[in-house]
Amino acid sequence: MVTVPGIVEMKGREKIAMVTAYDFSSARIADESGVDIVLVGDSLAMVIQGLKSTLSVTVEDMIYHGRIVKRAVKNALVVVDMPFMSYQQGAYDAVLNAGRIVKETGCDAVKLEGGEDYAETVERIVKAGIPVMGHLGLTPQSINVFGSYKARGRDKGEAEKIMKGARALEKVGVFSIVLEAVPYALARDITESVSVPTIGIGAGMYTDGQVLVYHDLLGLFDEFKPKFVKRYADLKEDSVAAIKTYVKEVKSGKFPEMRHSYE
Ligand code: KIV
Repeated sequence: MVTVPGIVEMKGREKIAMVTAYDFSSARIADESGVDIVLVGDSLAMVIQGLKSTLSVTVEDMIYHGRIVKRAVKNALVVVDMPFMSYQQGAYDAVLNAGRIVKETGCDAVKLEGGEDYAETVERIVKAGIPVMGHLGLTPQSINVFGSYKARGRDKGEAEKIMKGARALEKVGVFSIVLEAVPYALARDITESVSVPTIGIGAGMYTDGQVLVYHDLLGLFDEFKPKFVKRYADLKEDSVAAIKTYVKEVKSGKFPEMRHSYE
């Protein structure tokens, strides 16, 4: 079984493969495919709940999906996102919410967004015995501050802030850091500067691992497609074709046949 120290040890030895999952079947598929980490991401706002941003996701939503995913996964590390406003208001609430997420889902670690400003909060969660994965660069919970989902860290000032954030998170004990939508050179510099693994999404090829959203990777979600997404299948198209055949067969009486019937 994959452990938090095991993930840290992978840095420089083996690339880390992480994918999101939100339900039993997708988590089972991800785990059986050999991913190292299954992330119950708050991206479930878009791909499960049909929302435009992650801001309305609740701790209850994350616990509901986290518990289901944990039930399915036998080998991978399970990390659950802390949703918007479950940690932003201070370390006290953050520890309580992280504790609830771990106790009620059985997950191995939590992930939260933010750099230097959240170092103290992260430190308190880690000191409570809960491993934390950081998340820097494009942090979708700050969409109303950013104004768009464009790449971050392209100017010197912002790049320095992200680098400082990575160092601050490393210092307070995160076991890994997601770098989302940042220039590959910045991701490479951060990866070389910190002792914990970096896991990129839209952060180029020099990070210690990669993460993709399940529905993007399999072509199940086509509302929008960020530049960094590689579709390894076109399951939406395949699903529509299969269900169209089912509809046709029901209407024509071809399905069910005798072999699908009880005597
Ligand atoms: O919520 C999510 O799926 C994420 C990944 C994109 C890293 O945070």
